[in-house]
Amino acid sequence: MLRIDILTLFPEAFSGYLEHSIIGRAMERRLVDVKLHNIRSFTHDKHHTADDYPYGGGAGMVMKPEPIFEAVESLQSEIGAMRCPVILLTPQGRLFTQELAGQLAENSNIILLCGHYEGIDERVAEHLVTDELSIGDYLLGGGEPAAMVIVDCLVRLLPGALGSDMSLAEESHIGNLLEYPQFTRPPDYRGWKVPDVLLSGNHKEVAEWRRKQSVLRTARRRPDLLQKAVLTEAEHKVVKSTDLNNN
Ligand code: ADE
Repeated sequence: MLRIDILTLFPEAFSGYLEHSIIGRAMERRLVDVKLHNIRSFTHDKHHTADDYPYGGGAGMVMKPEPIFEAVESLQSEIGAMRCPVILLTPQGRLFTQELAGQLAENSNIILLCGHYEGIDERVAEHLVTDELSIGDYLLGGGEPAAMVIVDCLVRLLPGALGSDMSLAEESHIGNLLEYPQFTRPPDYRGWKVPDVLLSGNHKEVAEWRRKQSVLRTARRRPDLLQKAVLTEAEHKVVKSTDLNNN
């Protein structure tokens, strides 16, 4: 069982989400346990102050270190895992990828820390967290949506969380290739036809067609990913000889 503890100033931001199909089902099946903790409940003053003005001046507020340190340390001793990953969600982190998700999913405990306001006191990043992750080069209002993205991504990697393990192996980003196009009935919709090969029943040809589509689609849309994919000599030739600007 993977236990994920989320530290946030806005636990209500997650309501609805954690009950959602795959995650909810994985929680019921005890594959994962996601626990929410309000950082404010680790403050000691009357007003439950979790933020303060930035030293040196400037706009916005900064999250105070004390409640965050206390929250993480109390969780670590409760879990009995002093060395589990403590991940700060921040646009300044390294990029979260499918490969990283695979590595993270190996853990039995993960603590996710959601940043807010103008930021978090740097001592948290320096002395408490083990990793800083960003889900992309854009700015969110807080780390909560990023934490949801990470939980979603990890849960679907847990054995038994999806209907079948087959669907995992063929998905986009596995092996650094995008997924091939999918079709279902009808075979002809408004004159747009499903490629003949998919109707042929020839499994080998279908597999070859799909692989080629994955490679070409990645070459067209995500040449950065293709650099990291392992291609055969023949596939390299196909990429070189195809006009990638066309469809
Ligand atoms: N907080 C704000 N923006 C973020 C991002 N892109 N990734 C992770 N956490 C964030």
